[in-house]
Amino acid sequence: MTRGRSRLAVRGELRVPGDKSVSHRALMFGCLADGTTTVRGILRSADIESTAGALRALGWPVPALAPELMVPGSGLSHLPSPISQLDCGNSGTSTRLLMGLVAGYPVKATFTGDESLSRRPMRRVAKPLVDMGARITIHGDRDGLPLTVEGGGLRALDWTLETPSAQVKSALLIAGVTGGVAVVIREPAPTRDHTERMLRSQGAAIDVGSGMIVLDPPTRLDPLNITVPGDPSSAAFFAALAAMADVGSVTIRDVGLNPGRCGFIAVLRRMGARVDIVDRNDAGPEPLGDLVVRPVHLSGTVIDGDEVPSLIDELPVLACVAARASGETIIAGAAELRVKESDRIGAVVANLRAIGVDVDETPDGMRIRGTRAPLSGRIDTHGDHRLAMAFGVLGATAQADLQVDRPECVAVSYPDFWRDLAHVAS
Ligand code: S3P
Repeated sequence: MTRGRSRLAVRGELRVPGDKSVSHRALMFGCLADGTTTVRGILRSADIESTAGALRALGWPVPALAPELMVPGSGLSHLPSPISQLDCGNSGTSTRLLMGLVAGYPVKATFTGDESLSRRPMRRVAKPLVDMGARITIHGDRDGLPLTVEGGGLRALDWTLETPSAQVKSALLIAGVTGGVAVVIREPAPTRDHTERMLRSQGAAIDVGSGMIVLDPPTRLDPLNITVPGDPSSAAFFAALAAMADVGSVTIRDVGLNPGRCGFIAVLRRMGARVDIVDRNDAGPEPLGDLVVRPVHLSGTVIDGDEVPSLIDELPVLACVAARASGETIIAGAAELRVKESDRIGAVVANLRAIGVDVDETPDGMRIRGTRAPLSGRIDTHGDHRLAMAFGVLGATAQADLQVDRPECVAVSYPDFWRDLAHVAS
């Protein structure tokens, strides 16, 4: 996939595809609204197709994904199909948020997914939904899919999250919305708040403060009219690439700057990278701006604590940046990485080691000693899109010759990733 080059020059500008988290929510909340929602720039990728397909199976007339999409909302009192099979593919966000959505209605849905999704923990969502009154059956002998949610007759919930998770938080808020009951959530650390912002822009009463989110159930939701910002998790690959380059700069236009997503910018800056935010726009529900990133000398850093949820999906690429920084980088407090699309701690450590990086695995992270020495070898992505892109970027740097297996797995979140990488790197 990549070829060894003696020096990496980056140039030009690009627009990364629409934010995945915002795109999932725009489809779901569009269906629940009274009236037609307009979504510009929705992400067109396998994960968003999973949400669109599941909503169609539930009976909502979601049109084919298009650059300007009109979603006809049916209102909160519309009942989805009484029995459905929802294939969520590789998408944890589709599964967990839709479990909450289904729980609010007197209907029954069975969730399935691919091998990776079937292994991911679902009890963290099932437990509080059962507390609200939903009936949930996990069919296998381990926590995961397939599972069946039988919803309806919910009661109010006051729940403290065991681990910070925007997916669990969102699932419970959505159950409150569709079930018409109050929900209080206590978060151990802040997580991305797209759900809160979107529901508030639709007229719902959501109070946030002191680690607590309080939803007063709305009786209706206004339709949305939104432009989806560029996905910061996709932009992070190009910011990392530019930071590791030898010369040039990359401009990434209209990137979402939700504070719950921007931890990677702080970390790259701490490592010494020059990351400028220009043309910041705070007018809409989600802040956005252009990122301009230039190469510099990079040093190791420590990533830990409350910062972790704000960069959880960016840790694989930050680990790759650490492999090219001077000194040691410590990643800690990130045990959640083990239950993503792959065990991202085990897989990142094994791949870095296989290509010649000195790295230790810890239960909740890793310690990486950076090197300028040539790196070479085959990358086992486990079909995980973020591993493919992280090592794709590392493989584009000077003195690196990496063969990324199953490169097509980027289709989950960024189908044109390899084209865009070739566009900015030479
Ligand atoms: C997401 C939340 C995060 C993130 C995932 C998308 C979301 O998961 O890793 O890619 O859209 O809410 P967790 O909430 O499980 O940490």
